[in-house]
Amino acid sequence: MTRHFLNLSDAGGDAIAAMLADAIDRKALRKGWPKGKPDADRPLDGHVLAMIFEKSSTRTRFSFEMAMRQLGGSAIVADAGSMQLGRGETVADTAQVLSRYVDAIMLRTDGHDNVEEMARHASVPVINALTDLSHPCQIVADLLTIVEHGKALPGLQLAWLGDGNNVLNSIVEAAGLMQFDVRIGCPEGYDPDEGFIGRARQGGAKISIHRDAAEAAAGADIIVADTWISMGQEGGEAKMADMSPYQVDAALMGQAKPDALFLHCLPAHRGEEVTPAVIDGPQSVIFDEAENRLHAQKSILRWVFGQL
Ligand code: CP
Repeated sequence: MTRHFLNLSDAGGDAIAAMLADAIDRKALRKGWPKGKPDADRPLDGHVLAMIFEKSSTRTRFSFEMAMRQLGGSAIVADAGSMQLGRGETVADTAQVLSRYVDAIMLRTDGHDNVEEMARHASVPVINALTDLSHPCQIVADLLTIVEHGKALPGLQLAWLGDGNNVLNSIVEAAGLMQFDVRIGCPEGYDPDEGFIGRARQGGAKISIHRDAAEAAAGADIIVADTWISMGQEGGEAKMADMSPYQVDAALMGQAKPDALFLHCLPAHRGEEVTPAVIDGPQSVIFDEAENRLHAQKSILRWVFGQL
C-alpha cells in the first residue's frame, strides 16, 4: 500500500509518536553539522521529491528541500503556475506522469480535493503541504516543539486564539490522536471544521469553543495564534474587527500557566493576532517551531517511505 500523508489520521497516533521520537534522535545526531551535510545513514539515498506550490511558502519550501538533502535524496521544486497544471492539465494526469519520474510528491494547494485527487492517481506517496482544510506537516513540527520543551502530550491543555482555520483543524485532529485537550477562543462564525472536532472527541480529546478569549486561555500549557487573514482570503477588514478581541497580548498570556509556551506557525503579523511583547518575548518558541519543520518533515518522509 502506498502511504499518503494528507491528514494526521493517515498515519495515526502510534506513527506520529514514532515520528516525534525519530525526529528527536536524528536532530541530536547531527547537532553542529553543516546544514547541507547528509545524515550519516542517508536513509533516502537516491530518492527524489517533487514539490508543487500553488501558493507562497518560505518554511515549507526550504525545510522540505533541506529535509531531502539531509536524508540523502533531492527535491525538484515547481510553482504550479509554471507547470501545465497551471494551464489546465488535470491533477490526475499530473499525478501519473510525475509518478514515473519521482519517488514522492508534495503539494500545496487551495482545495483539499486536489491532494486527494493527486493521491488517488499517484503510484508514489503524496504529502499535503497545506490545503484550505488542513496543515498536518505543521502540526508534527508543533508537537515536536512542545515535547522538546518538556511537556507531555497526554493531558496537555492547548489554547488556540483566533480564526478556526486549516492549522487549527490539524491541531484538533492531533488532539484526538495524541490525547490532549484544545480550548478554542474564536468569534461566532469562525469555528473549525465540525468533522475534525467530532472525530477528536470520539478519540477522547476534550475540545471546547469559547467566545471569551480569557476563558479559552485560562490555565493553558500552550497558547497558539495564527494570522487572521489566510493566503488568498478576501473580506479582510470585517474579519479583522471580529478577531480583534482574540489578540494574544501579555494580559492574555497571563491567563495561561506561568510556564506556558507561545506557538505561531508563521508568517506573523505583529500588532494583529499577537503583540510584539508576546511573540518576541521569553515564552515564545516560534523559531524552534520553525526549525522543527525540517526535523519533523524528515520523519514524515521516512514514514511515507515505510521506514517508520
Ligand atoms: N507555516 C508555514 O506553512 O509557513 P510557509 O507558508 O512559509 O510554508
